[in-house]
Amino acid sequence: MQDKHGHRISYLRISITDRCNERCGYCMPAELQEWLPREGVLTYEEILRIADVAAGIGITKVRVTGGEPLTRRDVIPFLERLCSLKGISEVGVSTNGTLLSKAAPGFITTADALVAAGVRSVNISLDTLDPSAYAVTTGRDYFDRVISGIDAARQAGFERIKINAVLMRGRSEEQLLPLVDFAHDNGLLLRFIELMPVSSGDVLSESSFLPVAEARRCIEENLGALDPRADFRTNGPASYFSVPGRDQLLGFIGAMTNLHFCETCNKLRLTCDGKLRPCLGSHLEFDLMKEIRSGASDQGIIDFIEQVVERKPMEHDFRNHYFPGRKMIAIGG
Ligand code: 5AD
Ligand code: SF4
Repeated sequence: MQDKHGHRISYLRISITDRCNERCGYCMPAELQEWLPREGVLTYEEILRIADVAAGIGITKVRVTGGEPLTRRDVIPFLERLCSLKGISEVGVSTNGTLLSKAAPGFITTADALVAAGVRSVNISLDTLDPSAYAVTTGRDYFDRVISGIDAARQAGFERIKINAVLMRGRSEEQLLPLVDFAHDNGLLLRFIELMPVSSGDVLSESSFLPVAEARRCIEENLGALDPRADFRTNGPASYFSVPGRDQLLGFIGAMTNLHFCETCNKLRLTCDGKLRPCLGSHLEFDLMKEIRSGASDQGIIDFIEQVVERKPMEHDFRNHYFPGRKMIAIGG
């Protein structure tokens, strides 16, 4: 599938729940959170049907997100079925990491169960190595759980473990080097992400914004010039650099400041309430749940997806007075 701007769409990001066991200020809205009622969320059957149909028209990679996807009941058998769909060559999970070391039926850890289900990569959110700063950012005192979650993931044998660190002025600066060293020592691929205006929390202000270029300069002052690695890409929009004298890559996701950010976009997003979104930073969304629940045929779903691809914007709207119409937690990063 290709849109009119030349984006080749091969990647579907699926949010399976709006619920989370943490409360990150940049993801959760400031006002009291109300979860969606169960019937307002796509069932696993519905999600699998959409993924199966999408695989028939060129979706090859899927990432499962939330909220926190590992809080949804029976997520492991669901992932196993998702991984076995014909045409889907890669399934990844984005998680806050707090539940990875928890026991799962038949396995020592949830991370082991994920690998056995066929999940190839896991992205874990970790903005800081300071436990009290972690509690401030996430609203929960779960730092130790995340660290044991990362250990469990390393032992489980994923092909790739990425760490996502959201950049925030006043919080991130002193954490840059510790995070780089932590990632190096543990064989993790670290990416720094610019804060995006996707929710209504207080931290989403101009004064909290820290550009990736500044983070990169700060790292370079300490570790030497980073070498751009245009040859290295994952499925996402990160630009990668290698650290001099080390076998380590760092990723920078300059969603706000990189003017070419959207050029390589290959994504569609499915929200947990069944809206198909052509872009994270645009208000456009289309109600696929309604289609499905009113009896759409497979061809009907194909036509629907193709029309959404048709509406994919050239670039996101974050720089043009974008006001979050929907909470990040309900979109899924
Ligand atoms: N800006 C940037 N990244 C965000 N995430 C959540 N909210 C925001 C935001 N406002 C990140 C999480 C996680 C990923 C799924 O999205 O930290 O790593
Ligand atoms: Fe939960 Fe992730 Fe949102 Fe934090 S960023 S509240 S861990 S979904």
